[in-house]
Amino acid sequence: MQTQLLGNAKQVTQHNDHITIQTAEATAKIWLYAPAIIRVNITKTPDKADTSFAVIQQPETGINFTEAENELTVTTDQLILKVNKTPLRFSFYTLDGKPLSEDDARFGVNWQNERVINYRKLYVDEKFIGLGEKTGALNRRGTHYVNWNTDASKHTIYTDPLYKTFPFFIGLHSRLTYGLFFDNTHKSYFDFGATTDDEMSWFGADGGDMNYYFFGAQGVAEIIKDYTWLTGRMEMPPLWSIGYQQCRYSYMSADEVLGIAQKLREHNIPADVIYCDIDYMDNYKIFTWNDEAFPDPKGMIDQLKALDFRTVCIVDPGIKVEDGYKQYDEGVAKNYFATYINGDNYVASVWPGRCHFPNFFDDKVKEWWGAAFTALTEPGVEGFWNDMNEPAAWGQNIPYLVKFGDRYMAEVRNAYGMEMTKATYNGTRKILGNKRPFMLTRAAYCGTQRFSAVWTGDNTATDEHMLYGQRLVNSLGLVGMSFTGVDIGGYTGNPTPELMLRWNSLGVYIPMYRNHAEIGTAMREPWEWGEENMAIIRKDIELRYQLLPYIYSGFYESSQNGLPLSRTLAIDYTLDENVFDVRYQNQFLFGNSMLVAPVESTRLTAEVYLPEGEWYRFGDDKAYEGGMAHSVPAPLNNLPVFVKGGGIIPMQSVIQSTNEAGDGILYLHIWKGTEDSTFIYYEDDGVTYDNERGILHKRDIGYQAEKNKVTVAVADGTYTSKFNTLKLIPHGFGKTVKTQEVPYHSGIIEINL
Ligand code: GLC
Repeated sequence: MQTQLLGNAKQVTQHNDHITIQTAEATAKIWLYAPAIIRVNITKTPDKADTSFAVIQQPETGINFTEAENELTVTTDQLILKVNKTPLRFSFYTLDGKPLSEDDARFGVNWQNERVINYRKLYVDEKFIGLGEKTGALNRRGTHYVNWNTDASKHTIYTDPLYKTFPFFIGLHSRLTYGLFFDNTHKSYFDFGATTDDEMSWFGADGGDMNYYFFGAQGVAEIIKDYTWLTGRMEMPPLWSIGYQQCRYSYMSADEVLGIAQKLREHNIPADVIYCDIDYMDNYKIFTWNDEAFPDPKGMIDQLKALDFRTVCIVDPGIKVEDGYKQYDEGVAKNYFATYINGDNYVASVWPGRCHFPNFFDDKVKEWWGAAFTALTEPGVEGFWNDMNEPAAWGQNIPYLVKFGDRYMAEVRNAYGMEMTKATYNGTRKILGNKRPFMLTRAAYCGTQRFSAVWTGDNTATDEHMLYGQRLVNSLGLVGMSFTGVDIGGYTGNPTPELMLRWNSLGVYIPMYRNHAEIGTAMREPWEWGEENMAIIRKDIELRYQLLPYIYSGFYESSQNGLPLSRTLAIDYTLDENVFDVRYQNQFLFGNSMLVAPVESTRLTAEVYLPEGEWYRFGDDKAYEGGMAHSVPAPLNNLPVFVKGGGIIPMQSVIQSTNEAGDGILYLHIWKGTEDSTFIYYEDDGVTYDNERGILHKRDIGYQAEKNKVTVAVADGTYTSKFNTLKLIPHGFGKTVKTQEVPYHSGIIEINL
């Protein structure tokens, strides 16, 4: 094993958009992407093409620096980077000189063979949040992680790695914040002071460059905004995809699918989405239908449409090795599959048996894959579930000498799922024209938010999985993934009725609300739990539909600034130590105004920590003081949810699906506060890309605490809202302040409370 140090700066050169620093061993480059975003790349192969799956922005031109004898300083409007020349070290400071993050003076960046690691100073009070889908506590201090996308079936609440890779974390110390995105798809490592006597944190990868983006903005939300500026934001999802989704591995026939949809309607359980898992296919051959169980896909989907259901179908990357199967024959003929180093197509077994795996890193393969979706879109499928794309293969140990074109598995495995999803997105978007496809993927890398929602894979029907699952959702929100879900009820095993009720009630506040279960488990649909429980489940799903104006507006916010819908309290209350207390770490804000406290199904009271401010229990408006913990009732039909003083929550009447217009009333709920508050209300047709051409309806809603007044500003955009009446519903103002009803129109609306 050879250890190589970075060495000393020998030569510094300024280029149009970057600075190059040469050492005997390596080349370091510095770019400025924005006043608070600096990129550093340290490489031993400076001539290799500089590409990224994640980053969609370009650096600024004209990066300036000053040079002293042993130091080079880059000063931006928000940040200072000091580069020590002997030895070469990189350290970041605020403009007033406070350290944000510094290389460990002794080790900095170095290599052991191809493995490249950056050792950084660890601050006494430093906390770490982020990395997306990772088990463990909210504060990752004292732990370590590996990124290597894995089909982690039967995972526990301690398993690492899981399905996705997001090498982006946020450091918090000395009342300061910074972010660091290590853009490298090789197997990577993060150590947040696990075993270094609290001296260092470190991160690195088995190969590739030490290539990172440093974010110096103050405030976690600001860092997320910058990170999602760099790697992209989600587009508006189809409105129907944020309704209730019913899934199972598998509904085995068209009759069963239709029966489930009909039953949801008969029982008046609002729902929008039904899934076909792998058994809709002929022997699990992608882009085929099983002609016995699903003899007339179009007929089935037409009937589902008549019931106001949309259909989502699963697709896996594995293409069955079988002569005469179109995708197999074409893929072999065109060399579209992953190979061994000698050019033989790589074979491994997944659901269909022996399979080849498309090389999604090739644009031609992406096109070919995308175009094949007519097999699903022609009968009417509108949602595409990309599974098994870590990629998964039985045995889960794909050899390192498998290649995708000229790239080795070791180098790009972590981006495979994202590239498959990109191919599915591009293809279906093209076929569907102006209609928004719904996209779901299990494996992901940074930037996946531009194409798809994600869910957290095969969880288990236990309370601890429900709680840690929420932590995954909240942590995914820190890395730009706003549209996230878990298998509600737990994929593996059978939930108790209590757990089903509790998890379903939490699902109201999970961005993607999907009930899903594994083959062989007991049926899981709402009516399987008896009349009384079904009534509770129905009520919660109804609440989700009532909240859709608030939730859809929340997605609009994500599409504009990258802030997630489900927000760990660490985003808004970063300096509050209690937020990181393991007793409260699962709590989250849902949108701007709601605080949700997940509670085990076995506990009917809960200890909830409410951060500074005034809070009201959602439902009965009981007032609570912030900055302290409260013991609150948590019956199975009433999850502890609180609204912030000044909270603005637009709601609608109960509808059975997003196809229904409802009663035309926008129910605008406002909770009394001591400070002014605002909410951006957003609406569009929910299904087309017309919103990208300004056909939308967007307006600020403001609450003025002192004046006791609500103002709905003039609406932007040319879309006509589905609402014609505004009902203002005050909470916490006392009995004299009454509900008021006024016409809803796009001009200014002012209401005195
Ligand atoms: C994988 C998925 C699961 C799906 C199953 C069958 O285990 O994670 O959600 O139901 O495959 O397709």
